Amino acid sequence: MTTLSSSTPQTDATSPTADQPPTPGPTVPEQAGVLLGHVAGYMATRIIDIGLTSGLLQALADQPSLTVQQLADAQQLDEFYTSVWCRGAFGAGVLERAGDGYALAPHLSTLLLDRTSPAFVGAMFPLVQRPELFGRFAASLPTGERMWWNDTSPEWIDAVAGTGGPFYTRLIPGGLSQVPGLAERLAAGGTIVDSACGAGTGLLRLAEHYPQCRVIGIDGDAHSVQRAQERVATARLTDRVQVHCQPLEQMELPESVALVVNNISMHECRDIDRVTQRVLALLEPGGRFVISDFPFPESDAGLRSVPGRLMSGIQFFEAQIDDQLLPRSAYDDLLTRHGFGELGTVALTPVHALTWGRRQE
Ligand SMILES: C[S@@+](CC[C@H](N)C(=O)[O-])C[C@H]1O[C@@H](n2cnc3c(N)ncnc32)[C@H](O)[C@@H]1O
Repeated sequence: MTTLSSSTPQTDATSPTADQPPTPGPTVPEQAGVLLGHVAGYMATRIIDIGLTSGLLQALADQPSLTVQQLADAQQLDEFYTSVWCRGAFGAGVLERAGDGYALAPHLSTLLLDRTSPAFVGAMFPLVQRPELFGRFAASLPTGERMWWNDTSPEWIDAVAGTGGPFYTRLIPGGLSQVPGLAERLAAGGTIVDSACGAGTGLLRLAEHYPQCRVIGIDGDAHSVQRAQERVATARLTDRVQVHCQPLEQMELPESVALVVNNISMHECRDIDRVTQRVLALLEPGGRFVISDFPFPESDAGLRSVPGRLMSGIQFFEAQIDDQLLPRSAYDDLLTRHGFGELGTVALTPVHALTWGRRQE
């Protein structure tokens, strides 16, 4: 076996050296395997989505194992079709054999069904099938016609809120507790702003975890603001949580705030510098701004990783609302050029990073 030591000169794998033949490129069967793997992944996505919407996955989570007939009876579904779904889900690694029937594979209940888990990915499956992601992009490819959130459907906004959920779960309070001094500051009370609050998931979480703080949500989309207001009212939090419909570029409040968060939205701002100026103006001296976002890969290798490919898919929606996801380092540059100090960052998962800064005293 050959090992590379740090002193070994590294060569490009495809460029021949005097004593090394050129590495042959991939074969037709290998390249076909890559393409067909994509088709199989698409099929697995559809199988999982059917399992979510039909209740088949929930039924299997509720029982240790079920035969096809028990599963079909429990969900009032056709037995033959249910058997086809089970075999497909087994092939996709979602189910395991259990005696004469099937059981969920390890951790699948958490990953696909538990909306309170920081590891929840179940909301991705309906999201990627909404026409706002690829269908409208394909139809608009010749013209490049853009849209904004008020052109999207309520189903899209709900699907986005579903995928934003685990980002908030990781951010509040775990991610925020990694910002030096922030937990102590919030324990003393004060106001927290969720900028681009969407349908309000973060407002509820902030209010729950920081009961001594007031919480204000700001978002530019009227439908999202209405959803957030309904959820705040249902949670009986209207005395402590307010929601305003306002572009972030014009954000203004009568009070100074201890913390501004932004969850998976900073890359969307039409004028990111203007928004950062508004954040700075809102913050009390020493107040923190925490940006929670997808760190778009900075390298070709990153683009070919699973997180990079997921983010490249999200770019199809971002393009239609006239933006693109940003590499995490863009937020260091942004906060630095607006005079923030005590910058910090942490990766919470491969698709989730925090960047923060502090308004100088
Ligand atoms: C991807 S969603 C995220 C919503 C929420 N933070 C979540 O994680 O569920 C992006 C949100 O940002 C809002 N938004 C984007 N740019 C904005 C701007 N310049 N002013 C106000 N709202 C904006 C959109 O209306 C939308 O609700």
